[in-house]
Amino acid sequence: MNTSKNTSKLSSIKNLLSASDFNQEVTVKGWVRFFRSNRFIIINDGSTIHNIQAVIDLDKTNTEQTKGISVGACVAVNGKLVQSTGAGQTVEILVDTFEVLGEADPEKYPLQPKKHSLEFLREIAHLRPRTNTFSAILRLRHSMTFAIHQFFNERGFFNVHTPIITGSDCEGAGEMFRVTTLDPKNPPLKEDGSVDFKQDFFGKETNLTVSGQLNGELAAMALGKIYTFGPTFRAENSNTSRHLAEFWMIEPEVAFNEIKENMDLAESFMKYLIQYALDNNRDDLEFLKQRLLDEEKDKPKEQRSEMDLIQKLEFVLHNDFERITYTDAVQILKDSKPNKNGKFQFPVGEWGFDMQSEHEKYLVEKHFKKPVIVTGYPAAIKAFYMKQNDDGKTVAAMDVLVPGIGEIIGGSQREDNLEKLLNAIKVFNIPEKDIWWYLDTRRFGSAPHSGFGLGFERLMLFITGMGNIRDVIPFPRAPKTADF
Ligand code: 4AD
Ligand code: MG
Repeated sequence: MNTSKNTSKLSSIKNLLSASDFNQEVTVKGWVRFFRSNRFIIINDGSTIHNIQAVIDLDKTNTEQTKGISVGACVAVNGKLVQSTGAGQTVEILVDTFEVLGEADPEKYPLQPKKHSLEFLREIAHLRPRTNTFSAILRLRHSMTFAIHQFFNERGFFNVHTPIITGSDCEGAGEMFRVTTLDPKNPPLKEDGSVDFKQDFFGKETNLTVSGQLNGELAAMALGKIYTFGPTFRAENSNTSRHLAEFWMIEPEVAFNEIKENMDLAESFMKYLIQYALDNNRDDLEFLKQRLLDEEKDKPKEQRSEMDLIQKLEFVLHNDFERITYTDAVQILKDSKPNKNGKFQFPVGEWGFDMQSEHEKYLVEKHFKKPVIVTGYPAAIKAFYMKQNDDGKTVAAMDVLVPGIGEIIGGSQREDNLEKLLNAIKVFNIPEKDIWWYLDTRRFGSAPHSGFGLGFERLMLFITGMGNIRDVIPFPRAPKTADF
């Protein structure tokens, strides 16, 4: 029985589970999730969250032959697809031949059919895609990637590839990873003792990009509507559940859009992605929903969520995002109970203070109980490129805040007036010689334009209901974390 003379075509479990032509001969290859009574092999091949059961004929098989079948092993089974009589499954395979493609020593294989903590799974990130939770997340990542391209393609946007290695700091926060080929022990020095980057690979100081926006704007000033979807890197030393050192960002940039249209685009984009997940990833979302409900079972009633994952997604889908100004947001925070009772870790400051994540969460979770778009931030706490409002102190910035996460999108209308932009780079200490090419778009055929950046992993947190950003990317990069 170990010889696999499979003639039938390889089928995905996803297809077989919805098949109706029974008694056909099928072949399935996948990883063993359970093996019961030396007879029932429960297999998953990653095509769906659901498993298929393959039933071995004990009259034709002895224990010696099934020895290599254990949790985690990779098997190929060939046999007849039949309607199942077992509970919770529609079809199963009556095994004709099977082969163990790769054994998994049960003494050593770390993933057993029981609940493992997310912390433990992070330590075995090379194997966690084989769990229900992570395979669901990875399928959803794929789905969201596809939906993002589809959303923009349907609307006439062009996907532009912006550089990963760059000489400029778009966000001006100075949290960049240097790219160099200089000898760290013995770099060439200038007379004043500082490193001579003229001798480095690119003849200047270069870093991994924090955002594709500046290059994206150049393309928008020619193609009209563009978006980027690429990896971005930030050397922020923040060990939070919402920050990664390497994450993916989607950045649309649209010529002639002003801040209002920018908000409309962000809101319809978010809703499109939610709708897409609900329509195309129902099984995975149901699984993740149940996972959260199970997690909450042990909590006291008042700490449990009012809505389950799918209800939350549907709620966001069917309600308008609240739109408020920074000034109003600060007033709400000042008047809030947690502020008056000293419950915020960071007290609400005077106008001009930078909202912390706890403040953003208060606005969306407690006050408005829905996504909020905040506009009109003080210029001093935002980036140099944002459109300066007539009041002389705020900029046409917008942050989209969502329940459970806080900021998911950051964007703005861009300053298209050369004089004002030149002023801003002076204030932000950005040497003109470093971004002369960016300024050129304001010299030649400047136009109002706007854009934003959606953090892909923040989106994934929102869609999956997961609590830690390290669990929605296959191989997270964070301070002191670059294994796998
Ligand atoms: O608000 P940010 O810094 O905006 C920009 O980079 C602009 N250049 C975007 C634009 O206008 N084209 O970042 C955008 C989004 C944030 O709202 C957040 O979702 C995500 O990127 N983000 C991070 N995600 C994970 N880990 C980090 N360290 C992140 N920093 C930002
Ligand atoms: Mg931001």
